[in-house]
Amino acid sequence: MRTFLFLSTMFLLVTSLVVVISFPSCTKEGPPGKAGEDGIDGESGTATCAVCHDDSQVNTAITRHWEKSKHASGSAYLRNSSNCAGCHTSQGYRELLETGSTTTFATISNPNPPNCYTCHQIHQQYTLDDWDLTNVASFDLRITGDHVDHGKGNLCASCHQPRRPSPMPVIGGSDITIDNFRWGPHYGSPGALAAGKGGYEIGSGYTNSAHVSMIDNSCVTCHMPENYNEQAGGHMFNLSYGGPASPDVLTSSCTGCHTNETTLQLLMDSAKLDINTLLADLNGELKTIGILSATDQPVSGTWTANQAGALLNHQLVKYDGSNGVHNYPYIKTLLENSIAAIQ
Ligand code: HEC
Ligand code: HEC
Ligand code: HEC
Ligand code: HEC
Ligand code: HEC
Ligand code: HEC
Repeated sequence: MRTFLFLSTMFLLVTSLVVVISFPSCTKEGPPGKAGEDGIDGESGTATCAVCHDDSQVNTAITRHWEKSKHASGSAYLRNSSNCAGCHTSQGYRELLETGSTTTFATISNPNPPNCYTCHQIHQQYTLDDWDLTNVASFDLRITGDHVDHGKGNLCASCHQPRRPSPMPVIGGSDITIDNFRWGPHYGSPGALAAGKGGYEIGSGYTNSAHVSMIDNSCVTCHMPENYNEQAGGHMFNLSYGGPASPDVLTSSCTGCHTNETTLQLLMDSAKLDINTLLADLNGELKTIGILSATDQPVSGTWTANQAGALLNHQLVKYDGSNGVHNYPYIKTLLENSIAAIQ
C-alpha cells in the first residue's frame, strides 16, 4: 500500500514535471529564437495566436502585396548553393544570422524566396513581438569591409549589397587579371551606394546626399510607404512601377521632406539625366579600352587598377537602379572620376 502510494505520488510528480517542462516548449516551436530569448513560460500555447490570426484580413492583404513583389514573383531564390543562398533564399539568410558566416554550410534544399519568416520573427514567441524584424544590425560591407548602418534598412542592405570581386582592384595597386565575364560587384549595390561606400574611390571630391544622414531607416523609410494599390510601396518594396519605360515613381515617402511635388519631379528628372548621361559616357570609354564587350560584359585580360576600378564603378551604378536618388553626389563623382581616370 505504502509502495503504491509512493509510486502514485511519484507518478503524479513526474507527470506534472513533464507538463511543466513540455508546456513552455510547445510555445517555442519553429525556428530557434535568438540566444537568451525564452519562451513565454506558463502561457497557453494558443492564447496569443489570435493577435495575428484574427479576422481582420490584414495578413491576407499584406500577403497579396508580397506576392506582387519581385521577392515572391522572381526566380532568383533558386540560386541555393552555399555561396549564393545567404542572400537568395530565406533559409540561407536565417542561417547566416545564426552563424555570422557569409556562406551556408550546404546547398539549401526546398529554397524559399524572402518571405514573412525571413524578415519577421514569426512563430518564435507567438506574441505581437514576433513582428519584430529578424535583423537590424549594422554590418561591414562585403566589398570593402566599410561599416554601414541603415537602421531598419540593414535588413534589406545586408542582401542588397555588392560582393567583393576577385581580384579586387586597389587604388595605386598593381594590374589585375580578369579571367571571367562574371567578374564584378554583383547585382545589388544600393546597400553600399546609399551609404556613400563601396566604390573604387579614385580622385577626390566625394560627398553624400542629405539622404544618407537624414533618413534613419533608409531603405525601409523610402521603399515601404503605404502601398499604392497593388503596384508599389508597402510589402511590394518597389518604388518605380508601370514598366521600365514608364517614369512613374511612388513619391509618398518623399513628400514629408520634398513638400513641392513639382520641384521633386524636376530634381529627380535632372538627377536621372545626369547619371544616365555619365553612365553612358563611361560605358563608351570602357568599350574603347576593350575592358567591356559590345554586349556589356567584362572582358578577360590584364588591366590597370584604374581600368578595372572604373569598370567596377560602372557595374555598381548600373545595378543601383535608383537613377541617382540613392546618393546623387557620391554616384556622380564616382562616374566623373572614373571617366577622368581612364580617358
Ligand atoms: C506575430 C503574428 C503571429 C502570431 C502571434 C502567430 N502567427 Fe501563425 N502565422 C503568422 C504569419 C505571418 C504566418 C505566415 C503566413 C504566410 O506564410 O502566408 C503564419 C502562419 C501560420 C500557419 C500556416 C502554416 C505555416 O507555418 O506557414 C499556421 C498553421 C499558424 N500560423 C498557426 C499559428 C498558431 C497555432 C499560433 C499560436 C500558437 C500562431 N500561428 C501565432 C503570424 C502569426
Ligand atoms: C534575403 C535577402 C533579401 C532581403 C532581406 C531583401 N531583399 Fe530585396 N531582393 C532580394 C533578391 C534576391 C531580389 C531579386 C529577386 C528576383 O529577381 O527573383 C530582390 C528584389 C528586390 C526588389 C526588386 C528589384 C528589381 O530588380 O525589380 C526590390 C525593390 C527590393 N528587393 C527591395 C528590398 C527592400 C526594401 C528590402 C527590405 C525591406 C529587401 N529588399 C530585403 C533579396 C533580399
Ligand atoms: C550579398 C548577397 C548576394 C549574394 C552572396 C549573391 N547574390 Fe545574387 N543577387 C543579390 C541581390 C540583392 C539581387 C537582386 C538585385 C536587384 O534586383 O536589384 C541578386 C541578383 C542576382 C541575379 C539576377 C536575378 C536573376 O535571378 O536573374 C543572378 C543571376 C544572381 N543574383 C546570381 C547569384 C549567384 C549565382 C550567386 C552565388 C554565386 C549570388 N547571386 C550570390 C544578392 C546576392
Ligand atoms: C523583405 C522583408 C519583409 C518581408 C518579406 C515581409 N515583411 Fe512585413 N515588414 C517589413 C518591414 C521592414 C516592416 C516595417 C517594420 C517597422 O517599421 O518596424 C514590416 C511591417 C509589417 C507589419 C506591421 C508590423 C507592426 O509592427 O505593426 C506587418 C503586419 C507585416 N509586416 C506582415 C508581414 C507579412 C504577413 C509578411 C509575409 C506575407 C511580411 N510582413 C513579409 C519587412 C518585411
Ligand atoms: C531617398 C529614398 C530612398 C532610399 C533611402 C532608398 N531608396 Fe531605393 N530607390 C528609391 C527610388 C525613388 C527608386 C526608383 C528610382 C527610379 O526608378 O527612377 C529606387 C530604386 C531602387 C531599386 C530598383 C528597383 C525599384 O524599386 O525601382 C532597388 C532594388 C532599391 N531602390 C533598393 C534600395 C535599398 C536596398 C535601399 C537601402 C540600402 C534603398 N533602396 C534606399 C528611393 C530610395
Ligand atoms: C528626410 C527628408 C528626405 C526624404 C524622406 C527624402 N529626401 Fe530627397 N532630399 C532631401 C534633402 C534635404 C535634399 C537636399 C536638398 C535639396 O536638393 O532639396 C534632397 C535631395 C534630393 C534629390 C537631389 C539629389 C541629391 O540627393 O542631393 C533628389 C533627386 C531627391 N532628394 C529625391 C528624393 C526622393 C525621390 C525621395 C523619396 C523616395 C526623397 N528624396 C526622400 C531630403 C529628403
